[in-house]
Amino acid sequence: MSRIDSHFSDNGSGSTVILLHGFPFNRSMWRGQIEFLSARGYRCVAPDLRGLGENKSDAEIATMEEMARDVAELMDELKIDRAIICGLSMGCYVAFEFAHMFPSRVEALVLAGARAEGADKAEKKSREQQAKRVREQGMTHAIDSISQSLLSPRTLAEKPDVVSRVREMVASTDPRGAAAAQRGMATRRDYSDDLAKIDVPTLIVAGREDGVRTPEDAEFIDERIPNSQLIVIDDAGHLMNMEQPEIFNRALIGFLNELNH
Ligand code: MLT
Repeated sequence: MSRIDSHFSDNGSGSTVILLHGFPFNRSMWRGQIEFLSARGYRCVAPDLRGLGENKSDAEIATMEEMARDVAELMDELKIDRAIICGLSMGCYVAFEFAHMFPSRVEALVLAGARAEGADKAEKKSREQQAKRVREQGMTHAIDSISQSLLSPRTLAEKPDVVSRVREMVASTDPRGAAAAQRGMATRRDYSDDLAKIDVPTLIVAGREDGVRTPEDAEFIDERIPNSQLIVIDDAGHLMNMEQPEIFNRALIGFLNELNH
């Protein structure tokens, strides 16, 4: 159960923001936020989650609980007691689990492209099919469909640099890690009942054109977390932090700076 490896970036100094990436990506998806926040008085720690990025693993499944425990162990190693936990999509499942297991270590939460409900039967089946397919055929077949479904039409038409970064991240993902994370997401808990218990300031961010984790998913979370605020970003899909970095960063720094007042 212990962390198998630790590949992470650690930039800047000040209050710590832990950045938890989405699937099937790696810590490099946070590059724009790391540069921005570390130049403005924040320490940014971004790990590669279990089985992804450089954090290789042979396990058949990587659960959200294991990933959350990995984050706590990394914080121990870096002597960080409490941090602002910021996730995107799968990173939000890990953030929900982390907040549940280690509530006293969470100073605030940022949830981008999040969904609280667990996987239903159809989602579990589709994740198992995708897990088998990547194990058999590798990631290449998934590159087009992932970039088409996760990015907004505007990003696809006008931001070739973002599209190619996304494609490269998918292509570089280890199929074993992708399959293990799919199985972990299939077995994730339903976090809906956790939401009312989250007692830290929470920023929820949604992409107006995110078809996989919709603004309605974000509203569901916003209605249940007592101290939350919701921002919906236009012309952004699921990878809103890469698609509209200026708007995302402005929302983030506004929220973070308020915490210190
Ligand atoms: C992600 O971006 O992390 C994925 O879309 C998560 C998921 O498949 O639920």
